[in-house]
Amino acid sequence: MKAIRVHSFGGPEVLKLEEVPTPRPGPGQALVRIHAAGVNPYDTYMRTGTYAIRPPLPYTPGSDAGGMVEAVGEGVRGVKPGDRVYTATTVTGAYAEYALALESQLHPLPERISYAQGAGVWVPYGTAYHGLHHWAKASASETALIHGASGGVGTAAVQMARAMGLVVFGTAGTERGAKLVEREGAHRVFLHSDPGYREKILEATGGRGVDLVLEMLANLNLGHDLKLLAREGRVIVIGSRGDVSVTPRDLMMRRTSIHGFALWNINEAEAAEIHAGILAGLENGSLRPIVGRELPLAEAARAHKEVLEPGAFGKIVLVP
Ligand SMILES: NC(=O)c1ccc[n+]([C@@H]2O[C@H](COP(=O)([O-])OP(=O)(O)OC[C@H]3O[C@@H](n4cnc5c(N)ncnc54)[C@H](OP(=O)(O)O)[C@@H]3O)[C@@H](O)[C@H]2O)c1
Repeated sequence: MKAIRVHSFGGPEVLKLEEVPTPRPGPGQALVRIHAAGVNPYDTYMRTGTYAIRPPLPYTPGSDAGGMVEAVGEGVRGVKPGDRVYTATTVTGAYAEYALALESQLHPLPERISYAQGAGVWVPYGTAYHGLHHWAKASASETALIHGASGGVGTAAVQMARAMGLVVFGTAGTERGAKLVEREGAHRVFLHSDPGYREKILEATGGRGVDLVLEMLANLNLGHDLKLLAREGRVIVIGSRGDVSVTPRDLMMRRTSIHGFALWNINEAEAAEIHAGILAGLENGSLRPIVGRELPLAEAARAHKEVLEPGAFGKIVLVP
């Protein structure tokens, strides 16, 4: 089978398309035929070798995929050949024609969701769910700012927050991204490329501030986010690419808080709840993964460059 392999950590050029033996499922495992693999920013951090997760070399990147079960090993009862699935918490292996997964890492993909969309389910929607429900404890009628709403996590969070009954504000860097965020359910969209956008967000709340911020680029925005919060407001740090300074008194004066998490740190009970919530949303149409670009597997290096560039529009997925 064809697979992307990384033999040494480094830039996108270390992603090589190779011919490797198709794996066979062992006890408790399933072999999944990958129809599409999602490209997440953390795949690029891992590839550099500087991230908290450093897979043993050589490895095949990719945690998120939409595919079909091809074969199962001994003792597997939960899935069978022919099942449509999305993968979760495998961390690596999805940038390939086939991947092995434990049955606990496979989840049903409803018919209405394409395989390409399935590649955009786990990390984006798992993160949005964990942020909105477990950390922000968001309630209907609260106002949420999805700061970085045009990409994978952002579009997922906009759809989810809207379905939960929140008032949804989103930001994007381009007009095209802003239109997408509006289309997916945001009540108001602001351009984070507009120098006056933070004042406009405050104005849109009548000066009260927002109840929560899901932050995709904390190293740029965290200090400012604290000034946009209403009393008892919460910032949930989802993405950050460096250091930032904040004014602690902004927290003290309005009893606000900052939380952060990494999705791969969740516990089993949280994971079970997240998957149940995601499945319900995929089935009832409130969650609709946005695939902005499909690239052939051989173009993994290009996908790794593009996922870090401005102008996000949903997900980039690789098609074997
Ligand atoms: N904590 C976790 O477990 C977890 C899980 C998933 C992702 N993440 C992290 O969360 C971030 C977003 O992930 P993703 O998959 O959505 O990435 P993505 O699809 O590449 O989207 C990135 C988003 O950040 C926006 N952005 C760019 N500049 C910004 C600014 N100055 N202020 C606010 N937003 C800005 C982009 O908007 P434009 O391109 O329109 O400018 C886009 O909406 C990444 O850093 C990722 O590593 C963390």
